[in-house]
Amino acid sequence: MTQRKYRVIQWATGVVGQAALKHFIENPVIDLVGVAVTNPDKLGKDAGDLVGLPPTGVIATDNVEALVALDADCVFFAGLVKDLDLFERLLRSGKNIVSPAGPFFPTDRYKADFDRLEAACAAGGTSFHGCGVHPGFSGDILPLTLTRLMNRVDLIEVTEVIDKIRNPMVYTEMMGFGRDPEELLANPSRSAEAPYAFEGSMRMVVEGLGKSIERLTTRLEVATAIQDIPYSLGIGLPDTGVVKQGTVAGQHFEWTAWADGKPLIVYHFYWVMGEHVTPQWLTGPSCYKVAIHGDPPLEVHLMGGIGEDGERPFLGLPWTGLVGATAVPAVCDAAPGIVTHLDLGIVQPKGLVR
Ligand SMILES: NC(=O)c1ccc[n+]([C@@H]2O[C@H](COP(=O)([O-])OP(=O)(O)OC[C@H]3O[C@@H](n4cnc5c(N)ncnc54)[C@H](OP(=O)(O)O)[C@@H]3O)[C@@H](O)[C@H]2O)c1
Repeated sequence: MTQRKYRVIQWATGVVGQAALKHFIENPVIDLVGVAVTNPDKLGKDAGDLVGLPPTGVIATDNVEALVALDADCVFFAGLVKDLDLFERLLRSGKNIVSPAGPFFPTDRYKADFDRLEAACAAGGTSFHGCGVHPGFSGDILPLTLTRLMNRVDLIEVTEVIDKIRNPMVYTEMMGFGRDPEELLANPSRSAEAPYAFEGSMRMVVEGLGKSIERLTTRLEVATAIQDIPYSLGIGLPDTGVVKQGTVAGQHFEWTAWADGKPLIVYHFYWVMGEHVTPQWLTGPSCYKVAIHGDPPLEVHLMGGIGEDGERPFLGLPWTGLVGATAVPAVCDAAPGIVTHLDLGIVQPKGLVR
């Protein structure tokens, strides 16, 4: 059987972008045709160099005009924040977009964004798909799929657990670790917009179960460091920061969607800086957990396999790249417009078995 090939541009090569880029280079059904970077150290480098693979002949560039003019089927946009002006240009130029930068699943709050994207899709005959691990998988496709194993659903809890010492990330400082606990509770570092960025995922599950969200409530509690905790901002990087004893070393965000006067889906995010914190909410590796209370109760833990160091890495960022990258052929083949998980149905990834 001859397999159609999909020409892809990788836009931005941070942690998520690199996972997608590596996949595009290695997947035989994908032709990598462009790579967009902003980092001057990456400019002019071969795409293969950026992810530790042999040369591809595709050179990283910051020339937006040249990239927009390229003949490509799809752009995987993994920049820091969504760029609607750029998205419109790319969609109108005939390129589909898959993006973990959002917007994700249409809600009233993001209607204006989706209206703009829908119009650009119509003009270009293209599609836009918002992707990610959470939002995008652990709190939506996964629990909704798991409900097929239930007789009755009372409550769904989705928990993200990240130990930011074992899995260092750039987000540590901006998320408020090391701040005064009272001050952080009064004025959290995580954006007040964050629950609404996940509201689409909650809606997908709640509406998928035939209910609607009456209200969304949020709660935050913090844990503190019992000793000074040194940390780095990336895997393999030296420690450059210290969370001082008594300051914020753990955050538990709890967001609840209510239906019929009761909680129906709760998202928990436990972000902790290792074990020298109090209280110790959870132990075990960083992971996603889905617990469905009802008949019969069900629990699934989604975590990385054991690595050479004997640890289970947190794969949330690479998964965010891969869950989008593996949807690229289906998004390119979809009818023009906003393409959600519900439109895609069960995605059949291409080129994975090789
Ligand atoms: N839905 C989810 O589950 C989920 C999970 C994690 C992340 N995300 C989203 O995925 C995206 C990428 O996350 P990440 O963890 O890979 O971030 P990251 O490691 O910080 O990488 C972001 C990359 O964006 C590029 N960049 C920097 N400044 C930029 C600018 N002003 N305009 C455009 N691009 C710029 C840089 O690419 P170059 O180095 O190539 O110049 C940078 O490496 C973010 O939008 C994030 O919110 C979604």
